[in-house]
Amino acid sequence: MKRSNFIKSTLLFLTCIALWSCSHADIIQESTDDLPPLQTDVKYNPEVQNIMFNNCITCHGGPSPSAGLDLTTYQNVRASAESSNMIQRMNDIANPMPPSGVLSAQIRQQMDKWVADGFPEN
Ligand code: HEC
Repeated sequence: MKRSNFIKSTLLFLTCIALWSCSHADIIQESTDDLPPLQTDVKYNPEVQNIMFNNCITCHGGPSPSAGLDLTTYQNVRASAESSNMIQRMNDIANPMPPSGVLSAQIRQQMDKWVADGFPEN
């Protein structure tokens, strides 16, 4: 093999490894089951509100929120978590919210705890 071809092949190989490891890391979805139980309280203010503001309200806020779903208030976030598919969508690998991919297991565990504790506001 010519030396330049060898270098090209090596670079191609390394690029493949690099791409594979990135996409591979994105595909592995941590399960909340792998985490130790959460000991701290999770309240709307500040934890859940921060999760919504950091991950959701760019689409689910403003004058015409996606799917008609506004996630900027306690009442709305609670209603969506309580009687809609919000928690399910946040854990749905095939159809996640946010659409860019499910959030970390830590964040999803916080949402689960908030629901289990009865949606404390403050
Ligand atoms: C990039 C924009 C975007 C972001 C960010 C986003 N969403 Fe959505 N969301 C959408 C769109 C568009 C739809 C409607 C299409 C669909 O259901 O996939 C939707 C639908 C939903 C639905 C279903 C509503 C229904 O009536 O079925 C829920 C629940 C939801 N989003 C929750 C969230 C939550 C919670 C977050 C943050 C953790 C979030 N979304 C982040 C764009 C977004």
